Amino acid sequence: MFGRRGILLIASIAVATAAFLRFGQPTHEKLAKFEELRPGLFRHSLEVSPLTQIFTLPVATWLLKGGQEHSWILVDSGVGLTTYQKSYRAALKSALGRKDKIKLLLLTHSHTDHTEGLPWLLEEYPEAWLAFHEKEAPYVSGGASYAELDGESWIWNVTKAYHNINSSMPVERCITLKGRHGDVAKEIAEAIPDASSWLPEGFLEYLHTPGHAIGHTAFIHKPTSSVIAGDVFGYRAPAWSFKKPKPGPGFSPPVFLSTLNSTLARESAKLVASLPGIETVFPSHDNQAGASVAELRLWTAGFTHDSW
Ligand SMILES: *[C@@H]1O[C@H](CO)[C@@H](O)[C@H](O)[C@H]1NC(C)=O
Ligand SMILES: *[C@@H]1O[C@H](CO)[C@@H](O)[C@H](O)[C@H]1NC(C)=O
Ligand SMILES: *[C@@H]1O[C@H](CO)[C@@H](O)[C@H](O)[C@H]1NC(C)=O
Repeated sequence: MFGRRGILLIASIAVATAAFLRFGQPTHEKLAKFEELRPGLFRHSLEVSPLTQIFTLPVATWLLKGGQEHSWILVDSGVGLTTYQKSYRAALKSALGRKDKIKLLLLTHSHTDHTEGLPWLLEEYPEAWLAFHEKEAPYVSGGASYAELDGESWIWNVTKAYHNINSSMPVERCITLKGRHGDVAKEIAEAIPDASSWLPEGFLEYLHTPGHAIGHTAFIHKPTSSVIAGDVFGYRAPAWSFKKPKPGPGFSPPVFLSTLNSTLARESAKLVASLPGIETVFPSHDNQAGASVAELRLWTAGFTHDSW
């Protein structure tokens, strides 16, 4: 009656809507902690399981030790699911001492699973600034919505309303990172005069990596030669419960439901792979503890102009 395309469309709408409305429950009830994966680079990661166990998706947030005692920088704020935020909040509380302060909140991009902790973080850490790429600004603090954009696939059209929920973050606390590549310290210096004491130059760089989102940004942590890669790609995630992991490189394209432009996303993956002096990349959706740049290069070398 509906035809194959119609049935597929209806099934996909149901699946996508269910996934994005509920976003599943964490597989493990236990709380996760911030783990120090490299000196001064900590990760909180908790698996959420959209579609009740059909696939699992670890969602990470990052905590970086600043250049001065008691100063910290956060990258992303996780998905709004109560259990996730409960774990994240507890992890942050146990990682930070009484005198410690969050100085800066950085965003890789504004999708819900990276930003839904922001309202309570901004309230609990009133001195913290929020920084993100200028191209992402409309969707963080400009009142714009991803639902206004046309993506490359009809599935984007179906799910786009769920990609960013609150684009009304307080502008007076926001700083935008401009251009293709730069030093975070330099970009925030004007707005935060004392920033150089806790975020020295040459410590943290940003790299505009569009595709998954318009203003998607990766962060390069120079002291550990690491890249916090956000959703430029995933690593052994999401994992489908009915599929055995493939041998070979464990990288995967960013979650397709919410990727705006995969041509740009592939270019961004190649850009990260070509960075000099980098050893490890840490995606937000990663079932392991990061992956080597050598493996990333192997994966990106196999891209053709129109596919992963
Ligand atoms: C969006 O976030 C801002 C800043 O945290 C908050 O003041 C506002 O109430 C939020 N709006 C909605 C609709 O949740
Ligand atoms: C994706 O980006 C490429 C490169 O900038 C562009 O040519 C293409 O039109 C974009 N696709 C969509 C659907 O916007
Ligand atoms: C998405 O929706 C817009 C209208 O809102 C339409 O013009 C476009 O063709 C749709 N894209 C796809 C790939 O279905």
